[in-house]
Amino acid sequence: MIVPFASRPSPKLVFGAGALNDLPAYVREVGGLAVYLVSDRGIARTGYVDRARGLLKAAGIPVSCFTDARENPTETDAATCRDQALGNPFDCLVALGGGSSLDTARACNFLLSNGGAMRDYHGYGKAAKPMLPMIAIPTTAGTGSETQSYALISRDDTHEKMACGDPKARARIAILDPDLTATLPRSTAILSGLDALSHALESAVCTKRNAVSSIYSEAAFRHLAGAVSRIFAGQGTADDRGHMQLGAAFAGLAIENSMLGGAHASANPLTARHGVVHGHAVSHMLPHVMRYNSADAGAGAIYARYAELLRESGESSVPLIEWVSGIVKQCALPALDGSTMDLALLAEDATRQWTGKFNPRPLQAAEFLSLYRRAFDPHVSA
Ligand SMILES: [Fe+2]
Repeated sequence: MIVPFASRPSPKLVFGAGALNDLPAYVREVGGLAVYLVSDRGIARTGYVDRARGLLKAAGIPVSCFTDARENPTETDAATCRDQALGNPFDCLVALGGGSSLDTARACNFLLSNGGAMRDYHGYGKAAKPMLPMIAIPTTAGTGSETQSYALISRDDTHEKMACGDPKARARIAILDPDLTATLPRSTAILSGLDALSHALESAVCTKRNAVSSIYSEAAFRHLAGAVSRIFAGQGTADDRGHMQLGAAFAGLAIENSMLGGAHASANPLTARHGVVHGHAVSHMLPHVMRYNSADAGAGAIYARYAELLRESGESSVPLIEWVSGIVKQCALPALDGSTMDLALLAEDATRQWTGKFNPRPLQAAEFLSLYRRAFDPHVSA
């Protein structure tokens, strides 16, 4: 039986090496006459901010820049970005950077266009007034924020991560230029790539999966699976970087049209309570969640089909979960010490994660605790 669904539209996707050079034309395409460019200090150091600013100025488009976007942006960060924008008239936002820069720009758009504080937009569709057009230019291949309509912003008081979404917050155009990821430090390429792979695999089996999201999940998996080994080994080609960017963007569209699952639900408390970087946390939990999910007939069949894709492409002939574990092990991320963690408390936190409600097998505190025990027992191999 075909599951009923309502699909969400994609931004216009522009893919190609050097696509950033056409930024002025895309600003004009969305009706922009002046730009507010949001990025972070790391990206500013690479010279990409100056390059984007130079392109816009040369085309006669005034541009003001905010380069203080921070990891895991908070309500205060969003307000700071808004406050700096107030002195500079503009009618188009350009977000250049990783997921945090894109989230900050999107959050700033909510505040500028609709007022209030970010907690007013927690959920979906709470912005009543029109929002400014935004162009997203990812410099990592990971979050897929460029194809989504949500800003992930932490509450100042409780540090709870709020997903603030609205159809109007979606970028009008996403520029996917694989040249921009050529300078990524290997550690960032690994952590963002593992996140993208987790997005493809979690959205593929979640209970909200449907005819549209499944197309994006599978396409994302194909692009990512063929490139991750070389990218993670620091031996990626320009073509591999392109596949990673497409994989991340398609995985973003898969989430936009469905949901995630237990790996993200169990990873988020590790980040919130122990500061484990998102890509590290989610990839640590993913093989254990997949093993748990494989008892579900639908999820098991999808895993088997993805394993077949690996076999057909000549990538691997081992079962999917084994391949995922191997990829995570290849990254040699620092070991996480579960003995210093209150696993029962983490399990309680995990039950409050919205995304866990869409895991193919139900997850309550007892199941999360069992997953954490497996993930942190040195005698259990993922
Ligand atoms: Fe993620």
